Amino acid sequence: MSPAYRNPIGVVSLWLGFILMLLSCVKAYEKISDETLNRLSRPNNDFDIHNGALLSPILRTRVPGTPGSTAVLNHFADFFRTTLPNWTVEVQNSTAKTPVSKGKEIPFRNFIATRDPPWAPVGDVSRLTLVAHYDSKLEPEGFIGGIDSAAPCAMIMHAMRSVDAALEKKWSALEKQGLHEYLDEVQGLQVIFLDGEEAFQEWTDTDSLYGARALATHWDDQVYPAMSEFKTPLSSISLFVLLDLLGAKSPSIQSYYETTHWAYKNLGALEGRFKSLKQFKSASADRWFIDAAKDERNLKSFGGIQDDHLPFLAKGVEVLHLIDYAPFKGFPSVWHTLDDDGEHLDMDTVEDWSMLITAFVAEWMELEGYFDQPPAVGVRSDEDSDESEAIRLNKKTEL
Ligand SMILES: *[C@@H]1O[C@H](CO)[C@@H](O)[C@H](O)[C@H]1NC(C)=O
Ligand SMILES: *[C@@H]1O[C@H](CO)[C@@H](O)[C@H](O)[C@H]1NC(C)=O
Ligand SMILES: [Zn+2]
Repeated sequence: MSPAYRNPIGVVSLWLGFILMLLSCVKAYEKISDETLNRLSRPNNDFDIHNGALLSPILRTRVPGTPGSTAVLNHFADFFRTTLPNWTVEVQNSTAKTPVSKGKEIPFRNFIATRDPPWAPVGDVSRLTLVAHYDSKLEPEGFIGGIDSAAPCAMIMHAMRSVDAALEKKWSALEKQGLHEYLDEVQGLQVIFLDGEEAFQEWTDTDSLYGARALATHWDDQVYPAMSEFKTPLSSISLFVLLDLLGAKSPSIQSYYETTHWAYKNLGALEGRFKSLKQFKSASADRWFIDAAKDERNLKSFGGIQDDHLPFLAKGVEVLHLIDYAPFKGFPSVWHTLDDDGEHLDMDTVEDWSMLITAFVAEWMELEGYFDQPPAVGVRSDEDSDESEAIRLNKKTEL
C-alpha cells in the first residue's frame, strides 16, 4: 500500500493531481476575432524577391557546406538578433558523407530559434514548432528552390515577427499579476530551419534528410534535468508543423494524421475566414485544405511522402505536414526544376500563407486581446483596459 492511501490529505492531493493531469492533456486553442485577423501585420515589401528583407537573401543556391548555405544561415541569425532579440538561437552541427562527397564529411547545420516564457524552466515548456528546410538541391546546377523551401522559411519568419510583441505582452501581463503560476500548460514557440533535406544523388534512406535525422537523434538523447515535466527536447514539441513546397498558386493540402487532424481543421477554418473577410490576396475559390470537411477517422490521404518529419514522427512527435500535393495533381509543376525560382513564386499565395501561419500561431498561443489596438474612436482609459485584462486572465485560468 502506498503512503497516499493511509492519509486522506494524500488521497485528495492524488485526485487533484489526477484532475490537473487530465486538464493539462486538453490542448488549449483559442480562436482569434475577425478584428484581429483583419489587423495582423503584412509582409509588404519584405517578400520582394529582389530586395525584400526576408525572402530575397534566401533566393540563392545554398547547398550544404557551401558559402551560399553559410550566407543564408547568417541571414537567419541576423534576423533574430535584430528583429527578435529575446529569442534564443543555436546551430546544431553534424557531418556526414554523401554519395558524391568522395569520402569527405560534409557539414550540416540546423538553425534553431526558441522563445520560452521567461519564468519557465527549460524542461517544463512545450513548444509549437514551425519547420522548413533551407538547403537547396545540388542538381540541376543553379537550382534555387523558391517553393522548396525558401518561401516557407520566409513565411515562418514573418509569422514569428508578427506575433512576438503580442506574446511578450501576454507573458508580462501574466507575470505582473502573478497568474503565470496557475497555468496548466506552459507553451513556447520554436523555429527549426533544417539543412540537408535534399538528396545529393538519388533519394534513399541515407541520401536525404541529413539535418532532420541528426537533430531528431540529438534531441532524443539530450535529457532535461530530473523532475522536469518533459524528458527531452523532442518530447517537449507539442506540434511539429512542417511547411514544404508552398508558394505555388492554388495549393492542395491533405491531412495525413488522425491525431493532428483537429489542428489541420483549424487551419482550414482560418482559410475560410480569411477568404470571407477578403483578406486573402490570391482569392481563388478552390479550398486549400481539401480534407477539412472529413472526420479524422475517414482520412484516406495518400501517405508516404518522404520529408523532414519522418525522423521525428518515428520517435513519436505529433506532426502536421503542410505540403502542396494531391493524387493526380502531384507536386507543383516547377518541383525540382530550374523554374522553381523567385520569379515563379505566386507572391499573392506566398503572402496569404504567411498570414495563415501567423493566425494559426496566434490562436495556438491564445493571443486574442494582446495585439496592439489601432487608434480608435472613444479611446478607453488605461485603468479600464487593465481591469478588463485582469478579468480576461482570471477567466482563462479558471479550472
Ligand atoms: C525582451 O525581454 C525583456 C525582459 O522580459 C522585455 O523587457 C523586453 O521588452 C523584451 N523585448 C522585446 C522586443 O520583446
Ligand atoms: C556549430 O558550429 C558553429 C561554428 O560553425 C559554432 O559557432 C556553434 O557553436 C556550433 N554549435 C554547437 C551547438 O556546438
Ligand atoms: Zn526538394
